[in-house]
Amino acid sequence: MKWNNSFAIGIETIDEQHKKIFEHLLAIENAVAKRDPWHIQRFLLSQLADYMKFHLAVEEALLEIVGYPGRLGHKEAHSHILEQLAELERGMKENPSADNLVRFFENWFLNHVLQGDREYVVYIRKEMPALLRA
Ligand SMILES: [Fe+2]
Ligand SMILES: [Fe+2]
Repeated sequence: MKWNNSFAIGIETIDEQHKKIFEHLLAIENAVAKRDPWHIQRFLLSQLADYMKFHLAVEEALLEIVGYPGRLGHKEAHSHILEQLAELERGMKENPSADNLVRFFENWFLNHVLQGDREYVVYIRKEMPALLRA
């Protein structure tokens, strides 16, 4: 799936990172479509997981700094997805294709970007409007 500007939440750094995650996802999708060997898919997947960890940490730090009241719940949703990602990665040992994983992750991510992340933006818009683009 490709990035679409309607996915933007209005905080530049976060939008750039979300875009990057879509690029990682697209790379995996292409690898699956081309039937690249499992070790290539696995490598791309670990790159996605690493970048995802980085992005979630940045987001959590931001929510901490702005004092977002829902930050604990948001953080829990993040740890949950990392656990699921790790589980799916382990599952690749039996079924060495990133196919299911990509679909699952894409749904989660889209949902998170379009919903979960938008909830904290409402708060930031009110408390720290300077963080948002005009
Ligand atoms: Fe995010
Ligand atoms: Fe998030």
